[in-house]
Amino acid sequence: MTPGKGTAMDLQILPLENQKEKITDESKLGFGKYFTDRMMVVEYDRGRGWHSARIQPYQPFSLDPAALVFHYAQEIFEGLKAYRHPDGSIGLFRPEENIERFNRSARRMCMPELDTDFVLEALKELVRLEADWVPSSPGTSLYIRPTMIATEPVLGVKPSDKYLFYIILTPVGPYYARGFEPVKIWISDDYVRAAHGGTGEAKTGGNYAASLFASTLAAQKGYDQVLWLDAEEHKYVEEVGSMNMFFLYDGKIVTSPLSGTILDGITRKSAFALLKEMGFEIEERALTIAEVLDGAESGKLQEAFGTGTAAVVSPVGQFTYKDRTVQISGNKVGETTLRLYNRLTGIQYGTEEDTHGWVRKI
Ligand code: COI
Repeated sequence: MTPGKGTAMDLQILPLENQKEKITDESKLGFGKYFTDRMMVVEYDRGRGWHSARIQPYQPFSLDPAALVFHYAQEIFEGLKAYRHPDGSIGLFRPEENIERFNRSARRMCMPELDTDFVLEALKELVRLEADWVPSSPGTSLYIRPTMIATEPVLGVKPSDKYLFYIILTPVGPYYARGFEPVKIWISDDYVRAAHGGTGEAKTGGNYAASLFASTLAAQKGYDQVLWLDAEEHKYVEEVGSMNMFFLYDGKIVTSPLSGTILDGITRKSAFALLKEMGFEIEERALTIAEVLDGAESGKLQEAFGTGTAAVVSPVGQFTYKDRTVQISGNKVGETTLRLYNRLTGIQYGTEEDTHGWVRKI
C-alpha cells in the first residue's frame, strides 16, 4: 500500500466466528440501532500512511483515553445507503459522491484523505459479505457509516498523527419514526449551527453536537427538527442539521446556496436533477424567514421539504418561529414532494430506470 492512499489489493478478510440474530420484523428496525456482523477498518500513521486494511468482526475499539478524538473532536463521517432491488440484487446510491465529500471533510479537519477507488471497492466487498443484512421491506435499506477518528494519545491541540478509518453498517427503517409524514419544524432564533468560515459544510461530529441543545428544546416543545438560520443576521434559511431544505415558492423551487455553512447534500444534488426533469426552475438563493412565514400565509409558499440520505425526502407540515406557527400544504404531503419522493426512491430501489447512472450494483 502506498503511503497516504490505500489500494484494494491489501484488504484482508478476517474470519467471522459468530453471527448475530437478524431482526426478522423489519418494521421494528428504527434508525441505526442494530449493526451487522462485520466492519471495515484501516489504520493511519503519519510517515507510514494508510495500512492494515481489513474486514473484521464488528467489535468495540480499545482506545487510549487521551486519544485526540475524545478531547478536540477531530472526527468526520458519511452516510450512504444500499437498497434491495426487486430482483434481489443490491444497489448503492451515488457512493463516489460520499467518498469525495468525505475527503473534502478530511481536508477541512486536517485529516488524511483516502483513495476513492479503494474505499469504494472495500465498501462493496463489505456490503457483499453482509448482503443478508440488507432489508427488503418498503422504506428500509442498509445505512452505511464511514467514519474517521483521531487516535493519537496526546493532549496538545494539533492534528493527530494517527487515525482509524472504519465503516459500519446498520439495517434501517425510516429516519423519522412516523415515516413519510409531514414533520413539524421549530426555527431557532437564539442558537445557530454554523457561521461563515466555520465547519458547517464538513460532515464532522462537532456540528451535530452543537445542534443538540436547540434540538432538545425543540423536542420538548413537540417538534421533530430545528431549522437553522444564518449566524450573522438570523434572517436567512440555512438547513435542518439532517436535511437540506427546499421550498416550492411562487411556482419555483428555492433552496439555500452552498456558501460554506450548509452541507453539500448528495440527495440535494439528486433532487436538483429530478426537479429540473419535472420542469421546475431552481433558484439557489438565500430565502428569508419572513418569506417562508408570509408565503405560507399568502399561499405563495406551496410546499416545503427536506432532503438527506437518512431522511430521503421529508415533507414539512408546519414551521414555528418565535410565537408564530404556519402550516404548509395544509399539513399534508404536497404533490411535488410526493412526485420527487417517488422518482428518487424508484431509482434507489431499482423500480424505475436509473437514467442518470447513479446506482452502483454490488
Ligand atoms: C445522513 O443523512 O446520512 C446523515 O448523516 C444525517 C444524520 C444526522 C443521520
